[in-house]
Amino acid sequence: MSEEKKQAILRTSVIMAILFVVAVFTVICGMILTLKTWNIFGEVVKIVTLSVIVFVFYAVFYVYLNYSSNSRSLESMSKNKLLAVAYTCITIGILLSCASGSYLSWFALPLAFVSLIVGILIRVRVGVMATVISGMSVLIISPVSELVQDGAAVIPIVLGCMTGMISGFVMAFLIRKRYSRFKMTWGALIVSLAMMPMSALITLLYTLDAGEVLRNAIFTAMGNMLAIAVITASLPLYERIFNVWTDFRLQELITLRQPLLKKLNEDAPGTFSHSMAVANLAENCAVAIGINPYMARVCGYFHDIGKSKNPKFFVENQKDGYNPHDELIPEVSVSMITRHTTAGYEMLRAAHMPEEICKAALEHHGDSAVSYFYMKVKSITEGEVDDKEFCYEGPCPTTKYSAIIMICDICEAMFRAKPPEDMESLEKAVDGVIKSRINEGQLDDCGLTMRDLKLIKQTICRAIPASMHKRIDYDKAKERR
Ligand SMILES: [Fe+2]
Ligand SMILES: [Fe+2]
Repeated sequence: MSEEKKQAILRTSVIMAILFVVAVFTVICGMILTLKTWNIFGEVVKIVTLSVIVFVFYAVFYVYLNYSSNSRSLESMSKNKLLAVAYTCITIGILLSCASGSYLSWFALPLAFVSLIVGILIRVRVGVMATVISGMSVLIISPVSELVQDGAAVIPIVLGCMTGMISGFVMAFLIRKRYSRFKMTWGALIVSLAMMPMSALITLLYTLDAGEVLRNAIFTAMGNMLAIAVITASLPLYERIFNVWTDFRLQELITLRQPLLKKLNEDAPGTFSHSMAVANLAENCAVAIGINPYMARVCGYFHDIGKSKNPKFFVENQKDGYNPHDELIPEVSVSMITRHTTAGYEMLRAAHMPEEICKAALEHHGDSAVSYFYMKVKSITEGEVDDKEFCYEGPCPTTKYSAIIMICDICEAMFRAKPPEDMESLEKAVDGVIKSRINEGQLDDCGLTMRDLKLIKQTICRAIPASMHKRIDYDKAKERR
């Protein structure tokens, strides 16, 4: 057996042992909450049986999570973090539901907590699966006290769990669209109220008592509101403790209250304006190829943050015709310019920014040459010029975000310097930028497909005329065709 396989088996065994301990903990706490007594240790058989059942649920979820974590959308989160986030959410969801069920009503289960928080922190599909696991666990743990005495009392518990799970599924779909924190909370509140008729219908399955129907409908809304309150309080904690970059947290980075952006705006206004334009283009491209548009936008905002260390060395920040490069030899000028990628990377790492954003700052020029100075030296030097001295250190883009920023960065700077005359010249120029990057091997490791690049080209060609506020002569382009 290979060393790798042994390691994998050992890792899985350790995780299973931890999951069993978590299952036992959940069952013991769940039983204490359900039976409303600390004296549950006489029920050893029940504890063991329930623990094994809940462990089986947890293990099934582990297999699902393991399968899901191989998909590209979950690659940014380490597997250990994924497990920690998912299982703490599930355990809290189960215990909250047991408490709410036994002290309030079995129709007031805040199972929507699990679907929403796991959906926000990990993925909607994982949130739905986590809700099923939580609901099933509550269903197994909660009737234990009632089952022995009165079988009929189990019916409301089963139907209450069902209602809680349905609420969770409906809520999970709320976060499919990228709302703000405020809109998400209001949306969830509206869904809470909208679930009341559903709860009333489910109650009619076991009783025609109008009072019970109304009570259960109100309790369902209360359970969902409890879920929203707990999410509102715990989401920022989860984001900080596990360092998860949700869309909400990413949105908070792109305000002028963010110290690095504030500094860029004050010290390098030209770079700031360029970065905003790149961010707009990058966000559009991200939407086109189906990756996170917020992440792309934030990468655009921060990609040239390193320029804030020496703003005057970059043409977009020079005023009154003064150019410090006129007083420097080209080799020094190049080192001043190329330094902004590593400087930016270090600044962003020090500010604990997401890995994708740090990488975009470091990789957005790849290992390409600063052609202006290279050509200048070549024209005045006799003999060979070492082109490596005129190149960025790299590495080439290793993420889709870095690659998008690379393409959008060149296009924005190019069209700002010389706006395209018509649609045809615009398409030709964008095509040239992408082809030259491919030929140089800059896009070899970024994961973009040819289809992605085609979509990026189309998106930039659509977005550039709007950003230039200049009417491009489409008719001229048509005539030429
Ligand atoms: Fe740059
Ligand atoms: Fe740039």
